[in-house]
Amino acid sequence: MGKEILVLTGSPRKHGNSDQLADAFIRGAQSKGHRVHKFEAAFKDIHGCRGCNQCWPVETEPCVIKDDFFELAPLIETCEVAVFVSPLYFWGFTAQLKAAWDRFYAYRRKAGVQRLAIKESALLLTLGDTEDATYKHAVGTYQDIAEYIGWKDRGIVVAKGVNDKTDILGHKALARAEVLGKSIEST
Ligand SMILES: Cc1cc2nc3c(=O)[nH]c(=O)nc-3n(C[C@H](O)[C@H](O)[C@H](O)COP(=O)(O)O)c2cc1C
Repeated sequence: MGKEILVLTGSPRKHGNSDQLADAFIRGAQSKGHRVHKFEAAFKDIHGCRGCNQCWPVETEPCVIKDDFFELAPLIETCEVAVFVSPLYFWGFTAQLKAAWDRFYAYRRKAGVQRLAIKESALLLTLGDTEDATYKHAVGTYQDIAEYIGWKDRGIVVAKGVNDKTDILGHKALARAEVLGKSIEST
């Protein structure tokens, strides 16, 4: 049976490089019968975690901040696979993706722990530079989060040397992202 897959994107550029990489992954995953939920954090109203530690003020609500995280929450409670997608911004993820990601914090606390359905993860990254060293921090951050929460990494696809939206057309990373999507195993 196909899996429910969350694709969480972070670029504020519509149909930009990372969005096209996400769509390549989605094509691959859907061709294998998976159901994909694309959530574009940059086009949602998601605030940063306030560190108030008031998570789960009531049983059904993970956070005291009432914003579009309440649209994302049902997805992270049901999707077995999460794919994080971002352009590199100053050696890291975009603020929009990070804001959404930080809000997962609630699921590491109290009653929330058992509600996070994600078991597997993947990372799709685009950047203007062509040096591997440039994205090592972002990859390291992803790997550390995955290890900390206990997600099995299913793969990392990086498209280097892409700046303008059309730069990614024909890039080898698109095919790799599609293959990664196809490689997600059904249950
Ligand atoms: C604010 C900002 C910061 C960036 N920082 C980096 C960086 O540190 N290293 C890099 O190689 N590219 C950097 N870039 C370039 C983007 O990562 C690159 O153009 C990416 O492919 C854009 O993806 P998108 O079209 O999905 O937004 C930056 C771009 C912006 C707008």
